[in-house]
Amino acid sequence: MSNKQLFKKILVPVDGSHSCLHAKMLAASIAKKFKSKVTVVHVASHEFMHPELKAQYQLPHSILHKVDEAYLQAGKKIIRNAEEMFREAGITVDSKLVTHEDPAEFLLELIKSEKYCLVVIGNRAESQSERYSLGSVTEKVARHSECPVLIVKQKPKVEKILTAVDGSKYANKALEYAVELTKSYSANLALLHVEEDKLVRIGGPQVMDCLGTVGECILKDASTKVQGVKFDKMLEYGSPAEIIIKVAKKADVDIIVVGSRGLSSVRRYLLGSVSDDISMHARSSVLIVR
Ligand SMILES: Nc1ncnc2c1ncn2[C@@H]1O[C@H](COP(=O)(O)OP(=O)(O)OP(=O)(O)O)[C@@H](O)[C@H]1O
Ligand SMILES: [Mg+2]
Repeated sequence: MSNKQLFKKILVPVDGSHSCLHAKMLAASIAKKFKSKVTVVHVASHEFMHPELKAQYQLPHSILHKVDEAYLQAGKKIIRNAEEMFREAGITVDSKLVTHEDPAEFLLELIKSEKYCLVVIGNRAESQSERYSLGSVTEKVARHSECPVLIVKQKPKVEKILTAVDGSKYANKALEYAVELTKSYSANLALLHVEEDKLVRIGGPQVMDCLGTVGECILKDASTKVQGVKFDKMLEYGSPAEIIIKVAKKADVDIIVVGSRGLSSVRRYLLGSVSDDISMHARSSVLIVR
């Protein structure tokens, strides 16, 4: 697949929040590099649109109508601002404004029906106190989306990219995306593999050598898939998600790229525990590739 195909159609859910501003800026930057088409979407919903609550509180129709109208007007403004930003950057943009829908449900359906290649979304609506955790819509989209999701958590800079490899086909696909971004942004790329240290704790230091050999093999194999860019390789020991988050923080990484799944044969969850943990707790923005 050529690099333009990877990011051909980008969906940017917007809600007028601060984190959404960063998401819009990063989406614009990627769209410019990859000549992507962008759709901005806003779901104007409030709790009283829910049929259960409507029935429970029996609010007069005139009040509900006014609330609806206020949300709709706010939504129009949010969409207008977003469209303007993309247009000014010379990007082809269209928009969707919908009401009376569950935001996550609607976005997931849209991603599927319109076959988006990438969703660029802010990490949460408001609260600065939990800057690095995820809002519920973002969490649902990250878990269930059929296409890759880029969760934007900080300023839209793409200078340092870290991709976490575990030898799985999912991580290899993630690596493909990381390489394309690295090329387009002339960024620094690092490949990180973490060997779980559980065995070392049980089996003692001699186990360490064996793990090291396995880790080197995984990194070597991943390296053969990187062409046309320089990169660093890192092998660490410990709990994978914890170490990946720590390394990314220390190196001030802009985007961590992971596969949605890894080596585990358990298919109960849509997102593996490592990618789930990273998307929740890393400071860096996170691209989950599927
Ligand atoms: N040990 C590791 N070192 C580096 N990256 C890893 C490691 N384990 C997972 N990853 C990264 O996280 C992604 C998701 O893997 P994850 O382990 O979360 O899923 P899983 O193996 O399917 O599920 P789980 O391990 O939770 O049972 C991988 O594609 C890879 O990018
Ligand atoms: Mg795993």
